[in-house]
Amino acid sequence: MPYLIVGNWKMYFTYAQAVAWARQHQEDLQSLVRETEHKLVLCPSYEAISDIYKIIKTTGVAIGGQDCAPHDRGAYTGQVSATSLKQIGCSYCIIGHSETRLYQHVDNKMVAHAAEQALKNGLTPIVCVGEHKDQYEAKETFHVIAEQLAPVLLMYKNYEGERLCIAYEPVWAIGTGKVPHNTYLHDVYEFIKSLFTEVGLQRTPLLLYGGSVDPQTIEQLCKVPQIEGFLIGRASTDFKTLKKIVKLV
Ligand code: PGA
Repeated sequence: MPYLIVGNWKMYFTYAQAVAWARQHQEDLQSLVRETEHKLVLCPSYEAISDIYKIIKTTGVAIGGQDCAPHDRGAYTGQVSATSLKQIGCSYCIIGHSETRLYQHVDNKMVAHAAEQALKNGLTPIVCVGEHKDQYEAKETFHVIAEQLAPVLLMYKNYEGERLCIAYEPVWAIGTGKVPHNTYLHDVYEFIKSLFTEVGLQRTPLLLYGGSVDPQTIEQLCKVPQIEGFLIGRASTDFKTLKKIVKLV
């Protein structure tokens, strides 16, 4: 099955490092894309997107933003619109990552508005959901996900024909080397699917997993039948590791 493999570069690289990475691995990426059935997407930070797109656009690797504004345009200092991301080569956009929710104080409604902006502009939103450690321990995962997705479900009713990805990223699994058990993941994905069908949506989103995806954890994760792609942080910044993951899925 072809997976969607998305590299979330967060703020690991400076502009110069990100562009140098793309130049250095332009040919490697091209060969990797030729050798695999999986779809690759890289999400650098905003300032590097345009130049990286120019370097890798012939490789078949797509580009995504790490966030976009929940507004069209206007007096929103420091924000970047989905329209601009589309103009500089993006076809995907991560929305509502737990780090964005935490550090930029983005709430569930803003996530839905940003996802709507992405959809309106022809970007595929990758909406991230997931519980914190204490919520996991208190068995509140389903409740948290239902709350995070409620405004997204309402919004998506108007865009059902468009592609949408939901990335389940348990916050306690991000950057920790820990991943949930497969039976747990199975239940979470069935729950996410049920939220879509319960509101009458015919088409369920593409389901991704994120949080400590690396060459050690990927084989176990691939055994979860509902997972159709991966959102990879740290491991996606090292080409050899990224290639290893792509070869293992
Ligand atoms: P990680 O991050 O792969 O470094 O755990 C994943 C993410 O935050 O998207």
